[in-house]
Amino acid sequence: MFAKETTQLHKFSWETLPEGYVCLSPMAGVTDSAFRQICKQHGADVVFTEMASASMMLAAPARSATFLRYNELERPIICQIMGGDPKVMAEAARVVQDLGFDGVDINMGCPEKKIVGNACGSSLLKDADTAARIVEAMTQAVDIPVSVKMRSGFLDSQIVQPYFSKRMEEAGAKALAIHPRTKEQGYHGRADWSITRQIVEVVNVPVGGSGDINSHEAIARMRAETGAKFAWVARGSMGNPWIFEKERVLPPTISEVIETALAHARLALELKGPHGLIEMRKHLAWYFSGFPGAVALRDQVKKIFTIEQIEDLVEPYRGLNDLRHDHTRSFEQKEVAA
Ligand SMILES: Cc1cc2nc3c(=O)[nH]c(=O)nc-3n(C[C@H](O)[C@H](O)[C@H](O)COP(=O)(O)O)c2cc1C
Repeated sequence: MFAKETTQLHKFSWETLPEGYVCLSPMAGVTDSAFRQICKQHGADVVFTEMASASMMLAAPARSATFLRYNELERPIICQIMGGDPKVMAEAARVVQDLGFDGVDINMGCPEKKIVGNACGSSLLKDADTAARIVEAMTQAVDIPVSVKMRSGFLDSQIVQPYFSKRMEEAGAKALAIHPRTKEQGYHGRADWSITRQIVEVVNVPVGGSGDINSHEAIARMRAETGAKFAWVARGSMGNPWIFEKERVLPPTISEVIETALAHARLALELKGPHGLIEMRKHLAWYFSGFPGAVALRDQVKKIFTIEQIEDLVEPYRGLNDLRHDHTRSFEQKEVAA
C-alpha cells in the first residue's frame, strides 16, 4: 500500500509518547517494510525507515516512493533522510510529509566514506551552523515533527556534544536520538552512555538512547543511567524482533523462530519479489544464529532463491521442538557492512 493513499488519524508528537517507548532504529539495508512489519507485530512502538537520500528523492520520486513504501500497521513510522543542503532537505521533508509519514528524521551519524565525502551524515557534526540551518528549513517546510539522529562527534565527542544537541533543539528539532560513538569509532568500542546523560541534562525535548541495546535488561539500564525517555534498538533486533515484546521472559522457541522467519520471508517476497528473498539471506542467518548447525546454515543461505528452499532449509530445525536460544548475544556476531 502506498502511504499517499492513506490519511493520518492523529498527528504524531514525540512529546506525548509514553516514557519507555522502544523504537526500531533506522538501519540501511535492514529496516525495510517487511522487517518493520515483523518488529511492529512483536511490539516495536515506533519504527524508522532505512535512510533515504534527499537528493535522490527529488531526482527520482517514483523510485523513492517505492523504496519508502509502508503499510498502515507500521504507524507511527518515521522516515529518515540524509543530505547536506538545507533547501534540498526541506524539499525532501515535504515529500516525506506528502507520503503520509508521521515524522521526518535527519541522519547526522552515518560514517560511510561516500556520505561523509558529500558533507552529509556524520559530517554535519563538524558544522553545527549548517546542521541547524537544515533543521530550521525542514521545520518551516513541514507540519510533521522533525527529529535528529546523531553520533557523539566526528573525531571527538567532547567538542561536539552536548552543545550540538542544544543547537539542534533551538533550531526546532522535536526529538533527538544519540548513538554515543564518534564517526571515527564506527561500531567499535562501547557506546558511551554518559554522553547520552549529558545531552538529556541540557535539552528539553525527548531524547532516545541508542548504542549497545541488545536486551530488555540493557534497555532498562540505559534508561536508568542516562534518563533518556526512549530507547532506539538497532543490532539487538536483528534476528530478534522478540526484543520488542516487553512482557517476554523466556527467549523464543525454535518453533517461534521458524514461524517468524518464514512469515518474514513471505512478506519480503510479496513486497519486493525474488530480490526480497536475496535480501532475506542475512536475516535468516541472524534468526538461526546460536542454534545448532547455524554455521553451516550461514553458507547454505547464500544459495537461497525461493520460499521452498527456505522451507527446506528450516525443516531440520522442526525436530528440535521447544529448544530455545537466547538471542541476546554479543554484537561481534552481527557485524555487517552498514
Ligand atoms: C546495518 C546498520 C545500518 C545502519 N543504518 C543506519 C541508518 O540508515 N541511519 C541511522 O541513523 N543509523 C543507522 N545505523 C545505526 C543504528 O541505528 C544504531 O544507532 C547503531 O547501530 C547503534 O545501536 P546498536 O549498538 O544497538 O546497534 C545502522 C546500523 C547498522 C548496524
